[in-house]
Amino acid sequence: MSVELFNTISNSSVGHYVLFAALLLGVFKLTTLVLNFSAVIFDSFILPPVNFKKYGGGARGNNGKWAVITGASDGIGKEYAFQLAAKGLNIVLVSRTESKLEVVANEIKAKYPTTQTKVVAFDASTDTPANYLTLRHAIEELAVTVLINNVGQSHSIPVPFLETEDKELRDIITINNTATLKITQTVAPIIEATVNKSNKKIKGLILTMGSFGGLLPTPYLATYSGSKAFLQAWSAALAGELKPKGIDVELIISYLVTSNMSKIKRTSATIPNPKQFVGSVLRSVGRRGGAQERYATSTPYWSHALMHFAIESTVGVYSKVANKLNLQMHQQIRTRALKKAARLSQQKKTE
Ligand SMILES: NC(=O)c1ccc[n+]([C@@H]2O[C@H](COP(=O)([O-])OP(=O)(O)OC[C@H]3O[C@@H](n4cnc5c(N)ncnc54)[C@H](OP(=O)(O)O)[C@@H]3O)[C@@H](O)[C@H]2O)c1
Ligand SMILES: *[C@@H]1O[C@H](CO)[C@@H](O)[C@H](O)[C@H]1NC(C)=O
Ligand SMILES: *[C@@H]1O[C@H](CO)[C@@H](O)[C@H](O)[C@H]1NC(C)=O
Ligand SMILES: *[C@@H]1O[C@H](CO)[C@@H](O)[C@H](O)[C@H]1NC(C)=O
Repeated sequence: MSVELFNTISNSSVGHYVLFAALLLGVFKLTTLVLNFSAVIFDSFILPPVNFKKYGGGARGNNGKWAVITGASDGIGKEYAFQLAAKGLNIVLVSRTESKLEVVANEIKAKYPTTQTKVVAFDASTDTPANYLTLRHAIEELAVTVLINNVGQSHSIPVPFLETEDKELRDIITINNTATLKITQTVAPIIEATVNKSNKKIKGLILTMGSFGGLLPTPYLATYSGSKAFLQAWSAALAGELKPKGIDVELIISYLVTSNMSKIKRTSATIPNPKQFVGSVLRSVGRRGGAQERYATSTPYWSHALMHFAIESTVGVYSKVANKLNLQMHQQIRTRALKKAARLSQQKKTE
């Protein structure tokens, strides 16, 4: 504002009110920002871990409650299985490959001998009623209290939407969205029955894996980005519906984690391994971390939380600036991935 304009405004009596209102708004915004930032710091660094007894942890064996985990044979899902077993829950492992699930089940039993396990194998990219029937039959007699919707697939490399292959596009939507919804419809009533049986002394918990790809519209991962944004709105809507039934529903937002899907092997301040990441999720269930502005949503890993907060309280996730930076980043990833693929195929030819 120019000095002249300022003088004109502040010399009129209406101008005084305008400036006073602007000052109040500024103080309000600053206070909100400081409070939100303090909440991020408290959630991420200070508050003690959540006690899983409220979700039926602690018993194991015949009297134990059960957690159902999808995509449980590898990466983040496998880590959920181990850490929930450590909290005293029995474990149902769901993924495509039975042999991989058996290996994980045996590893869990070796580490926690009193933990019971069950494996359910189906391909979530084939959306057939038989899949969900198989799951229901496997778990309907179990006292299930926890569901972890972790199964997911992304684009193999960043790709322009118009060049996205039909199968990849359909798989992402089927695995990430349809299967997640149908699995939740299968498992949630069983959780509700367990909660009822305990006279609501024990709560249910449904966690769904979201992503920065859903938080920020992400060019070159458009289908994935949309599918994760879908889960975000769906999960928060479901949270409102299931709260009165004693079931906590939460979407977990994550930036990169080392795994086969992200194709990143080395950890850094912003890229935890699955163990560190899942540790941050389970210690802070019910808190929001970096997602202070969103109901039933958490960005739990400390550096992801700071990134989420910084973007949200500056340019905003839907801004032109965020979109442009994201476009440049994924164009670069695509260029590198294509070069690497070319190098590998060249090597093969010369061998
Ligand atoms: N890694 C990251 O940087 C990152 C970031 C944000 C969000 N996430 C989310 O975190 C979740 C787990 O990712 P991750 O990195 O741990 O992946 P991952 O290591 O590739 O593991 C994927 C799991 O899903 C199972 N799976 C894959 N396709 C399946 C299908 N068609 N049917 C049934 N099961 C299938 C796999 O088991 P089988 O091979 O036995 O089927 C495996 O257990 C995903 O939802 C992902 O979107 C990851
Ligand atoms: C990734 O995939 C390879 C080969 O399929 C497998 O041996 C490995 O255990 C997987 N998981 C991780 C976390 O690297
Ligand atoms: C599908 O969901 C998983 C986690 O639920 C996520 O890691 C993956 O990126 C998602 N893929 C797409 C294409 O949405
Ligand atoms: C749980 O209890 C509520 C209220 O008593 C009842 O309406 C609901 O049908 C019960 N649900 C299950 C799955 O038993």
